[in-house]
Amino acid sequence: MAKTRPEDLDWNNLGFKYHDLPFRWVDKFQDGKWQGGQLTSDSTITFNEAAEELHYGQEIFEGLKAYRRKDGGINLFRPDQNAKRMTKSAERLLMEPYPEDKFIEAVKQVVLANQEFVPPYGSGGTLYLRPFMMGTQSIVGVAPSETYEFRIYATPVGAYVKGLNPMPYVISDYDRAAPYGTGQAKTAGNYASSLMPSLLAKKAGFADALYLDPKEHKYIDEFGGANFFGITKDGQFQTPKSDSILPSITKHSILKIAADLGLDPIETKIPIDNIDQFAEAGAMGTAAVISPVGSLTYQDKKYSFGNEKEAGPITQKLYDTLTGIQFGDLEDKYNWTIKLS
Ligand code: PLP
Ligand code: COI
Repeated sequence: MAKTRPEDLDWNNLGFKYHDLPFRWVDKFQDGKWQGGQLTSDSTITFNEAAEELHYGQEIFEGLKAYRRKDGGINLFRPDQNAKRMTKSAERLLMEPYPEDKFIEAVKQVVLANQEFVPPYGSGGTLYLRPFMMGTQSIVGVAPSETYEFRIYATPVGAYVKGLNPMPYVISDYDRAAPYGTGQAKTAGNYASSLMPSLLAKKAGFADALYLDPKEHKYIDEFGGANFFGITKDGQFQTPKSDSILPSITKHSILKIAADLGLDPIETKIPIDNIDQFAEAGAMGTAAVISPVGSLTYQDKKYSFGNEKEAGPITQKLYDTLTGIQFGDLEDKYNWTIKLS
């Protein structure tokens, strides 16, 4: 695959796509230890046809971004939280955790090695980082791998959902994760099971599917790639409490921001039957940032939030505050950002 060059990129219209950049990180776990890791230009991975991850899905990943500041420097946003969550995912999938300090160091090295690909301030783009790990042992019986490969690639991206335009979503009849399953882990299987419901939603004219809790199908869980929030008509920020959703780093950050803004935030079970309590709703995640939900269709009934054309005032304020901190424009009172340069 041809390597992308900075001059090939239209910074203001990046989309959410893969580009083969000059450098990525690679480390291997073999003979009972991680080998130390290094940057490589090789974007191809080679493993045996019987490799664990191909058959039994021992694969976990993360997603985080590097942000170009106004002064030209580069920020990372809470990479320690991604390192921690990847350890938790590894434990759930019985994989060998990557040392968290090495994770952060590797993220920094990948960004610095590809720094000409961190989009300009004001373009709306960021450098998306995708740490991932897979079981590589050739194995036929179902058992955990004894060897692993850990990698981090980077790709410049624009918005996952373009602009702050509210989009229509639909409640799926399918589940993405099982009760007591792997919903809290960032593992490939959860995304594989979301592909069909997501396609069905898109074919029916929606931006994507929103899942209910897999046990009772009564409470809102999350989107295939982001957590859900709603702002009640009297201004409270609510986000689902559930054992089958991914603990979003964006969500945890917004809970703090919402408290600072006096929105009395809570994580609580959100009955789908109470959906009309919300004046605003949205999706939140690294890729999604904050994406307003214009409407939600459930059992053929459509619930609208605001005028469906522009983000509500609280959603806009949350977006401005979060991105203001990430890009270094606002005070970072919780020390969430790391200045890389
Ligand atoms: N939920 C799912 C299923 C996701 O894939 C993501 C994206 O990482 C999120 C939520 C949001 O998590 P974060 O804010 O840590 O990116
Ligand atoms: C992220 O926000 O980092 C994600 O992983 C969501 C999606 C692109 C799978």
